[in-house]
Order: sequence, then structure tokens, then C-alpha cells
Amino acid sequence: MIELVVYDDYQTLSRQTAKYIAELVRKKPNTVLGLATGSTPLGLYQELVHLYNEKEIDFKDVLTFNLDEYVGLPKEHPQSYYYFMNQHLFSKVNIAKNNIHFPRGIFTDPKEACREYEKQLTEVDHIDLQILGIGSNGHIGFNEPAKRMTLDTHITDLAPRTIQDNARFFNDSNEVPRQAITMGIGSIMRAKTILLMAHKESKAEAIDAIFSGVVDPNLPASILQLHSNVLVLVNKEVANRLHYRPPTIMVNQ
Ligand code: GLP
Repeated sequence: MIELVVYDDYQTLSRQTAKYIAELVRKKPNTVLGLATGSTPLGLYQELVHLYNEKEIDFKDVLTFNLDEYVGLPKEHPQSYYYFMNQHLFSKVNIAKNNIHFPRGIFTDPKEACREYEKQLTEVDHIDLQILGIGSNGHIGFNEPAKRMTLDTHITDLAPRTIQDNARFFNDSNEVPRQAITMGIGSIMRAKTILLMAHKESKAEAIDAIFSGVVDPNLPASILQLHSNVLVLVNKEVANRLHYRPPTIMVNQ
């Protein structure tokens, strides 16, 4: 079942998602969270830190798996996804270092780096809750449009549009890494629940692919239609631009 949840604004979307996660962690302290980077989940991480400071969530036994990392960027690089997560969440809550899982952006043997992350993912069996953003070209994690979807952790060439979209975080588009290591579609689809968030109108076209009735490897997020428990969380601006009208929950707050 895939549903659309429409929030009044980005802050409500972020706050409600954080509360949902806090509730889940209360019920299952060793929840396995799949985490995303990018500007979309920033509000969510802020709200989670807020809930942690209010003693509403305890990360002591929580396990995390991040979706992806740029190839060639070390953890200390300000544009690495590890740095991002550390800056916005990990350094601000009581998560145990050993419980944080990340694909490695620095390696000599790419196959080994992928195998290593895949093994860690297999050890937990499945992710309880996967947070996703979406690329304007429909990518999830760094599963880019392609002839076929890849199930396991893999190295991918970034699409020209992704390089262009992500150039805003770098001094210039030449600095954007050309490759990334990403969790595959298989691990994402094995997650018990998936929350995909989007608040920029530029994402509406990509979101439409999730409700189109067509699964297309050129729009990787379209695979989510085959999952049994997906909530697509958007603000009104994105909702108003969608062509498809899936089952919808309105949240006014
Ligand atoms: C990156 C990440 C994705 C993310 C996407 C959207 O390319 N690999 O996981 O969903 O960007 O980014 P933003 O939230 O900044 O729009």
C-alpha cells in the first residue's frame, strides 16, 4: 500500500516524521533506521535532536544505515555524507558509534567495499524504517536511472542532472564527485516501512512516477509501487503539482 500524506508545511512534515520515529524507537529501542542525506531531511534531523534534548527519544540502542556516500570523499570532507550526518545528527544525540553504518567512499577495491556494506545490511536482516528523499530525476539513494535496477550495494556513475543538482553544495560543478557507492534497491525494498519525503516543487514530476502504475528503471523511485508499506510525505506545494491522485491523508497543524 502506498499513500500520500500532505502536510501544511515543511516544518509540520519534519516534526511529525520525527515524532513517528520517536514512537517507533519507544516501542523498539533497537530500531534499525535507514537514513538519507540532502537538504530534504535536514528539518527531520533538527526535530530529532530537539526530541532527544527533551528526552523523548533515546538513540542508545538504535542502529543506522545510511543510503550512500560519494566515492573519493573521506569522512572528514565537509561534503561527505558521513560529515553531514555527524554534523546534523550523530554528534548531537547518544547514538553508539558502533551502531552507525555507512558505505565507504574511500577504498582500493570497489567490489570489497560493496560486499562489506552488503554484509552489514544482511546481518540485520531488514531495515525497520527507511527514510528517503528523491532526486529530481527519480533517483533514491544514488540508484540512478538505468536500463535495469541493481539490488545490492554498488558503485554508480552519477547522472549529469544529479551532478548539476548537487553542485550547489560544492564551489563548482567540477568538484562534484562523479561516482557514488549506494545501497541497492533490494535493501530499500526489504525495509518494513518506507517514508519518502519531498517539499520542493521541482520534485513533483519525480513523485508522480511513484503513483503512475508503471515501474520504470529510468525512474527508480517507481519501484516503490511494489512495496507494501510506503508513505510519501509532501507539503501542499508539491501535492498541488501532482498529476496522479493516490489515496491521500491530509494533515493540518
Ligand atoms: C542526493 C542523495 C539522495 C537525496 C537527493 C535529494 O543526491 N543521494 O539520497 O534524496 O540528493 O536531495 P535534496 O534533498 O537536497 O533535494
